Amino acid sequence: MPLMEPYRIKVVEPIPVTTRVEREKALDRAGHNLFNLRADDVTIDLLTDSGTGALSAAQQAAAALGDETYAGARSFERFREVVDELTSFPHIFPVHQGRAAERILFSTLLKPGQITLSNTHFDTTRANSELAGCEARDLPCLEMKDLDSDEPFKGNIDLAALEATLTGPDADRVGLVIMTITNNGGGGQPVSMANIEAASQICRRHAVPFFLDAARFAENAWLVTQREPGYENSSPREVAKAAFRLADGCLASLKKDGIGNIGGLLALRDDEVAGRCELTLTATEGFRTYGGLAGRDLEMLAQGLVEVTDPHYLRARTDAAAHLAELVTTAGVSIVRPPGIHGIYLNAGRLLPHIPPERFPGHALACALYLEGGIRSVELGSLFLGDVDADGRLLTPAPYELLRLALPRRVYTQSHLEYVAEVIAAVAKRAESVSGYRLVTTPPILRHFNATLAPVDPPSARP
Ligand code: F0G
Repeated sequence: MPLMEPYRIKVVEPIPVTTRVEREKALDRAGHNLFNLRADDVTIDLLTDSGTGALSAAQQAAAALGDETYAGARSFERFREVVDELTSFPHIFPVHQGRAAERILFSTLLKPGQITLSNTHFDTTRANSELAGCEARDLPCLEMKDLDSDEPFKGNIDLAALEATLTGPDADRVGLVIMTITNNGGGGQPVSMANIEAASQICRRHAVPFFLDAARFAENAWLVTQREPGYENSSPREVAKAAFRLADGCLASLKKDGIGNIGGLLALRDDEVAGRCELTLTATEGFRTYGGLAGRDLEMLAQGLVEVTDPHYLRARTDAAAHLAELVTTAGVSIVRPPGIHGIYLNAGRLLPHIPPERFPGHALACALYLEGGIRSVELGSLFLGDVDADGRLLTPAPYELLRLALPRRVYTQSHLEYVAEVIAAVAKRAESVSGYRLVTTPPILRHFNATLAPVDPPSARP
């Protein structure tokens, strides 16, 4: 079937259309950091797929049924039933977003000096592990190193490295293993069921808790049905259910595959750990039947968690991402292959070889796309992941200079994505004229959110 969104538009929101001069002024005002732009400065916002999805009519209707009872709300029951059917975890706690689940679980389960292992920790997951006094260690599979290969499951954990860590000198320090599905920090690549199963068995053998970071569980499940032999005839919901049943618990930002504007989940099997988490939950988020969310949020999430595994929706979303990937590739821009679902990751380092890592090619490309067409994206290169000193000098570059175009759920149509591809093609055509950036102010933590930058050596100014 040709690409087609399996929904029609019922409510519209105008998007800002700006001139180049307006965008230049806005970028200047923002200290050349796209996080500092206002919504009204941005035409197509591909900064994140988190909390930015469009609600369905059924979700809006469910919101009207929101029960705002403090304890024992009907809306919690509906949420609990849906999450229970999906995950099978006996202890289900709503939280306000994914990182709250990370904080509650890690501060409860981990002791300072321990290690958390992951295929790739998302940045807040890493931060919460470190805040609990632990070391967050990534064990991505070796296939991930080749950005250009079409290996189907480059999000996998390196099973040999996992086994070696759990039998090596650090074995006693490992506090938990967390599998991020799909692997957001690793190019949005999926994790195979075989890999989840093998990792789960290794953890069981070594008595180490095994968790899923399930922010994009439905998208991972869909890619399993499309790419993993033996799952061709399974539904994405069946695959997702099977994945949850291999874990001791899950953390999830429901701002992604919950299709909510806000919300998260912590779910567990162990009664004793759940009891201790509940104390922290009550003290810091809210009572166990609302966890910092309104009844109407719980209703919308329960409905979103049903809609998100619809194969028609998942197919259309995958096809849209693949279409954008193809257009961009045809325009001569390399991406992390194969394209995933929630984002397309452009290889800025390769497109802009004249900009060295210390001049942040991913950031330069992000600014160029903004100036060219009002597109907001996010750098995933040395600005975000590199090691920088207090004066803004890059000490260690990131392994790759990437830029993520995240795709909000049910928000942009095929023609919006074609517009994005045209803007990218226009920038690619004059790639050698894109200038690098230097840091002007460098905050000690969360640099990419708060830094300000300035363009250096604009190539057009050269003799
Ligand atoms: N885990 C993963 C894999 C994520 O992608 C995110 C958020 C979180 C945890 C944290 O969840 O934002 O609800 O607290 N990712 C967003 C992104 C912000 O743009 O990729 P949260």
